[in-house]
Amino acid sequence: MKIRVLGSAAGGGFPQWNCNCRNCDGLRRGTVRARARTQSSIAVTGDDENWVLFNASPDVLQQLREAPELQPARALRDTAIRAIVLIDAQIDHTTGLLMLREHRQPHALWCTAPVREDLSTGNPLFGVLGHYCGLDLHEIPLQGGFDIAGVPGVGFAALPLTSNAPPYSPRRDKPVPGDNIGVTLTDTRSGRKLFYAPGLGEMEPHVWAAMQAADCVLVDGTLWTDDEMIRLGASSKTSRAMGHLPQSGPGGMLEWLDRLPASTRKVLIHINNTNPILDEDSPQRAELAAHGVEVAWDGMVISL
Ligand code: MLT
Ligand code: MN
Ligand code: ZN
Repeated sequence: MKIRVLGSAAGGGFPQWNCNCRNCDGLRRGTVRARARTQSSIAVTGDDENWVLFNASPDVLQQLREAPELQPARALRDTAIRAIVLIDAQIDHTTGLLMLREHRQPHALWCTAPVREDLSTGNPLFGVLGHYCGLDLHEIPLQGGFDIAGVPGVGFAALPLTSNAPPYSPRRDKPVPGDNIGVTLTDTRSGRKLFYAPGLGEMEPHVWAAMQAADCVLVDGTLWTDDEMIRLGASSKTSRAMGHLPQSGPGGMLEWLDRLPASTRKVLIHINNTNPILDEDSPQRAELAAHGVEVAWDGMVISL
């Protein structure tokens, strides 16, 4: 199984168009050593031929231009993307669907019932796409595994987790199971597992069990501190209130990652542009390295 990180940034990307925080301004001026990053998405294959896109980022066209493996060029109009899985209904994970509207058949699209609801009402993308390629919708079960037709070699299993519904959703700040999911991807030959959760607000026992069972965890790296956005004057919400467990501090992601076996590969993804870990020379980045934690980058490939 091969996982390709298409976009490693949180909503807004890095640098964010209207942001002059130390990271965004420093990247533009060349005074901060960091990589630019597009918005949150990964692609997965079990046979190097048929891929599943996890989340359709607003940056999907740029991401696909930079991923030649996803364009096999077997016909005039072609793609290696066999299905799209949405882990929530947030703007940064869904807007790219509009950019993929030229598909020659309906996209096989997997999402939970609450995500389907949000994308049919508050943000009616599904209805709009009905006027273009259309969608072949499949509901993601919140228990047990599922297989995706045309994608051999990978098994899929979702679990509900506590994060948050999008700002436009009637369930903002009162999410229900299925508004956000984590996914375990299993290589069906080797049995090796990846746990993927770019939005993870609380370490619930079933989530922790899935992380302990994985060979690699690719998890929420949005913010370093809980009050990062408040202190910058960029938002009035804490990281936890937005549905993202911060890395530092008591009960933060780093404490949890430290409890995983040394053999578990630990990678942060969905990194907000304000997060000091983006600066490769920052003490926070050095702290991650000391704990054996990696920071995902656009183009990173994980083989399991
Ligand atoms: C999030 O992950 O919390 C959202 O993508 C934020 C946003 O939509 O800007
Ligand atoms: Mn997001
Ligand atoms: Zn910024």
